[in-house]
Amino acid sequence: MALEPRAIERAVLAWYDREARALPWRAPPKERQDPYKVWLSEIMLQQTTVKAVAPRYIDFLRRWPDVAALARAELGEVLAAWAGLGYYARARNLHACARAVAGEHGGDFPDTEAELRKLPGIGAYTAAAIAAIAFGKRATAVDGNIERVMARLFAVERPLPAAKKELKALAESLTPETRAGDFAQSLMDLGATICTPRRPACGLCPVRPACRGYAQGVAEQLPYKEEKAPRPTRRGVAFVVLREDGAVLLRTRPLKGLLGGMLEVPSTPWEETAPTKTARAAHAPVDLPWQDVSGRVEHTFTHFHLELCVVRAVVPEGVALLEVAEPERCRWLTMRELPGAALPTVMRKVLAHAFEAKAKRRAPKKQASKTRASKTRASPVRRSEDRRSA
Ligand code: ADE
Repeated sequence: MALEPRAIERAVLAWYDREARALPWRAPPKERQDPYKVWLSEIMLQQTTVKAVAPRYIDFLRRWPDVAALARAELGEVLAAWAGLGYYARARNLHACARAVAGEHGGDFPDTEAELRKLPGIGAYTAAAIAAIAFGKRATAVDGNIERVMARLFAVERPLPAAKKELKALAESLTPETRAGDFAQSLMDLGATICTPRRPACGLCPVRPACRGYAQGVAEQLPYKEEKAPRPTRRGVAFVVLREDGAVLLRTRPLKGLLGGMLEVPSTPWEETAPTKTARAAHAPVDLPWQDVSGRVEHTFTHFHLELCVVRAVVPEGVALLEVAEPERCRWLTMRELPGAALPTVMRKVLAHAFEAKAKRRAPKKQASKTRASKTRASPVRRSEDRRSA
């Protein structure tokens, strides 16, 4: 096979017709999918694995089966349903977008890339994916898998991210007039199952005869990547206030910025230098005799690594929130409410760490202590699978 676009297209689509992964958001090959399902899944799949998304997508769809239902939801409910998936701006935009489609477009997603891009949270990739998969338009959605496939197929030596434009242009050069949605998804599947980052299964690849990376013996090394600056580490102290009945004091984060609108355990600001005693006292939500919880909670966000020391205090039931700084942002959550709350993974780790310390205090002989809270298992708090930063 030469590097002739139509030959590549035919080989990839024939492979997709046989081997397409059955994923909950997919229509079978050659069929269009409901734009709401395509949009929802594509937003969820940004920065998040298919494995992590699949059950959450099913839950979401059961709860909000169409865009009108999602538009009627409260933002807090959507954030809670998103907890653990990370990149919470996606959930805020998802909600805003549902309201825009329901309010300004009569409940129907627009069918062109240009119109789709005007909606909250819909960028070039998502607009192209919706236009192609839901509306059958010739549009080219390029995700990380497709970049890798293009880099290998055309033996692109320029490293990422500088090569992004070139890889998109190459994918565009192959995109067919019809079945552009199947074509995009076939390349995604190829990247996920055969043209994998490590140890690609070139022997099974439908386009191996056309692959320059394979011919040159460099497929596995591609795409090259520019070295990233190391992530800085930030540090803070998290204050876990427990009521005697087990309820926890939580605070809503400001809507804008990291983890916007999600619940948090109050903490000092997260900075590169560890908080001083004065900063600790100044940011404690309330003046209490704090006990240090041994060990640390660690969590990696996209742009920094976080280390939190945890301190905790138990207050009597019936204590008022009047003493707490910013009481309007604070509330008690009972144990029963925690699993369904809008708590990001890092805060679930903090609570698990504080609860584990409490359990150990009650049963001191049971187990030797672990220093890394992220390894904690025994916890009344649901642990979400958030492979990436949350
Ligand atoms: N990743 C992003 N979109 C996808 C899709 N439609 N199918 C499989 N993986 C994906």
